[in-house]
Amino acid sequence: MPTKESSLSFDASILQHRFNIPPQFIWPDEEKPCPEPPPILDVPPIDLSAFLSKDPNCVANATKLVDKACRKHGFFLVVNHGIDMKLIEEAHMGMELFFKKPIEEKEKALRRPGEHCGYASSFTSRFSEKLPWKETLSFRYSAEEQLSNIVQSYFLDKLGEDNVGFGRVCQEYCEAMSRLSLNVMELLGMSLGVGSSYYRKFFEGNDSIMRLNYYPPCQKPDLVLGTGPHCDPTSLTILHQDDVGGLEVYVDEKWHSITPDPQAFVVNVGDTFMALSNGIYKGCLHRAVVNNKTPRKSLAFFLCPKSDKIVKPPKELVCDENSRTYPDFTWPTLLEFTQKHYRSDMKTFEAFVSWLGNK
Ligand code: OGA
Ligand code: NI
Repeated sequence: MPTKESSLSFDASILQHRFNIPPQFIWPDEEKPCPEPPPILDVPPIDLSAFLSKDPNCVANATKLVDKACRKHGFFLVVNHGIDMKLIEEAHMGMELFFKKPIEEKEKALRRPGEHCGYASSFTSRFSEKLPWKETLSFRYSAEEQLSNIVQSYFLDKLGEDNVGFGRVCQEYCEAMSRLSLNVMELLGMSLGVGSSYYRKFFEGNDSIMRLNYYPPCQKPDLVLGTGPHCDPTSLTILHQDDVGGLEVYVDEKWHSITPDPQAFVVNVGDTFMALSNGIYKGCLHRAVVNNKTPRKSLAFFLCPKSDKIVKPPKELVCDENSRTYPDFTWPTLLEFTQKHYRSDMKTFEAFVSWLGNK
């Protein structure tokens, strides 16, 4: 368990130029970044518009690639996704401007302990060890009609008139990610053999989380991590990384990198979808490293079920040879666990399942 201490405070704009790194940011040797550039992970590019065309060859091809990747490590790329490049660029530009603002501006949206939305910076953290080298801004998105302005309103309420434009971009970006993730759910339903509408229906009205990750440069990038090793507890992550690079995935007992491609989204299975597939599809450990020159940005959309949905696999995926792997749960229970009882790491879901069992 983490040790809580009174707030630390570092100024990222100064820290990024310093060669003596505060010990709170230095990771243990066995978790430090690889000394050599790691091998590149084989992540299949999935042509989404070809899959959606329903052409039998394209469908067969896409489902085969996704099935293989998700049984092994849960990472794949989506290309020909139909998302306007201009919207993606606007989101990156807005992010750049936001994270360059003075700390007092950003802290208007400060995330409070036990919450998952808001601005968070390890440079002003309540934890005292293994701090990630990053700042984030997270907010809730809902696909329910009556909450159709939730992102925009959040920006206005927390950050004021100046940020309305950026709020609108983020609202639009989340809507695009929600639509994209429902299309990916069709693909996952097909590749698991439960039909294209099963998971799409499950995630209609999704109550998701969007996180903007900003990683300043670090003069000793081999001592620190931008994001420590973790599995996403959410259902599906759709990540857009800029062209800097730094995302790594742990496969076959070693770290691999995922080469940036502005035309592609990196998609990965999270613990909740692993449970929805009865453990057939795996989430897997990943992390982000930083460099000594360029700030790095990534936009992460975490698809989550609506709060009342029971997370359990369809009966077609449960049989004698593959009996139930995980208990039923609802997403808010897992979210609360990650916020209040456990600092997210490589064993979060395992710890959650045993915590549920003891309750
Ligand atoms: C995350 C994550 C990786 C990245 O936000 O959960 O794994 O490359 N981010 O920013
Ligand atoms: Ni992640």
